[in-house]
Parts: sequence; C-alpha cells; structure tokens
Amino acid sequence: SLGPKATSAGYRLAAFDKVGSTNAEAMARARTGERDPTWFVTTEQTAGRGRRQRVWIAPRGNLASSVLEVMDISPAVAATMGFAFGLAHATALQRVSVEANLRLAGADQLQYLLKWPNDILVRGQKLCGLLLEAEAVTDGRLAVVAGIGTNVIAAPEGTPTPATSLAALGVHVGAEELFAALSDAWVEFRGIWDNGRGFGEIRKLWLDRAFGVGEPVAIKTGTATVEGTFDTIDDTGCLIVRTAEGKRMPITAGEVYFGTA
Ligand code: BTN
Repeated sequence: SLGPKATSAGYRLAAFDKVGSTNAEAMARARTGERDPTWFVTTEQTAGRGRRQRVWIAPRGNLASSVLEVMDISPAVAATMGFAFGLAHATALQRVSVEANLRLAGADQLQYLLKWPNDILVRGQKLCGLLLEAEAVTDGRLAVVAGIGTNVIAAPEGTPTPATSLAALGVHVGAEELFAALSDAWVEFRGIWDNGRGFGEIRKLWLDRAFGVGEPVAIKTGTATVEGTFDTIDDTGCLIVRTAEGKRMPITAGEVYFGTA
C-alpha cells in the first residue's frame, strides 16, 4: 500500500485506496485552503480525467499520482512545470527499470521517452498520460496540479494510441516503489525547474528524452492539421514544427501524430 513514508521530505501525502480523480481531489483541497505541497495518490481511480475532455479510467493496480504546488507564478510559467514533471517521471521509470534492462538485449532496452506535450512512451507505445491544471486561489497565488497516470498492470480502456504497461514489458515494480521513485525524482527536477535558471535547463533535459525530434509529424489543433518536421520546443514549451516550405510554426496545443504513435 501507499503508506505515509512513501513520499519525500517536505511533501504531505494523501493516499487513497480508491478515488474519483487525484487531480480533482488535489484541486478541491487547494480550494479549501491547502497551501503545502501535497501528493494525492491511488491505485484505483474511478473517474480520472484525461486531456482534451477524455476520461482516464484505470484498472485497480495502476498508479495515479498528482502533486499540488501553490505558487506565486503566472499561468505561462506554470505550463512549463508539466515538462519538469513528465521528465521526473520518465527518469523515475528509467531508474526502476535498471534490473529489467540488465536482462534485455541492446535493441530491446527499455527507454522512456517524452512525447509532446507530455505522454511517456516506451517502444513507441503510451505508458503514461499527464494532465496539468492550474487555478487562481484566494490569496492571488496559483494552485498548480500535475497529475500522471501510469499503466502498471494494464492500459486504460479506450486509449486512442497504442498503449502498453509495465507488466507487459516485464518490469515488475509495485505501485509503492514506483511512487517513491517518482516523488524523489520530483524533488530533484522541481529544484532544477525552480532554481532561477528558469525553463532553460529543463527544456534541454526534456529534449534529450524527447520522442521524434527531427521526424515527420502531423498535429491536429482542433481547427486544422499542421504537417512538417518536429524541430524542437521553444522556451515556453511550444512545439516548433518546420513545414515543407520552411516555415516555423509554434504549436501551443494539439494532438501529435508520429506515424503510428
Ligand atoms: C491523457 O493522456 O489524456 C492524460 C491522462 C492523465 C491521467 C492522470 S491520472 C492522475 C491524474 N488524475 C486525473 O484525474 N488525471 C490525471
């Protein structure tokens, strides 16, 4: 179980046996005055929220984790926190997969990559989805909730992209061990994000772990589809696409398609 010792120093922990949505729970607590950084975690989420009004209903045994941070920052700066959060979890997954990777041949090595804006892919398949939400709270500060769902035992039903799970990959890690790795990595990456160097360092580290840099992409933005090559992300987190005509298109939101992923 996700016991009280599971989280890193400085963070409160609200662990649920079963809950509707850890993101919703975190935001509700911010609205009723919680100002301390807090983790909300469960292995069974019954009304999980996904990006673009999707649902994220995971079977019991998967891990849903959300961190609440109340800060004196703008929504634009808050948006960059998602990149630090995705990076922290990809790093945590890499660390808990050291043993599995010792058993695997070179070409089969598990590598956890970030798909813009913040899915985690392994072998080109979705393992985690991330949802970042922000809301102004009474004292003028911003409550930022970064939530991530990890397919420990199985992918949620109806995932629109090819998906996998740690169990299917042969990574036998419990939710508690995985959450401990995530909360430790979060302290580390939050520190890098917050230490005055701004987004620059996180941006570099994120690009080192990015899926599909230099590859052809199509992005559905709701109103249009932009096609081109995934060039980079800029210093606000926008995806930069280079079109066939050589035009540089910054994308703020949309669904990214790389071939099949
Ligand atoms: C997506 O890929 O659409 C994002 C899925 C985000 C799911 C996570 S699970 C923990 C947190 N709580 C929620 O209700 N959603 C996020």
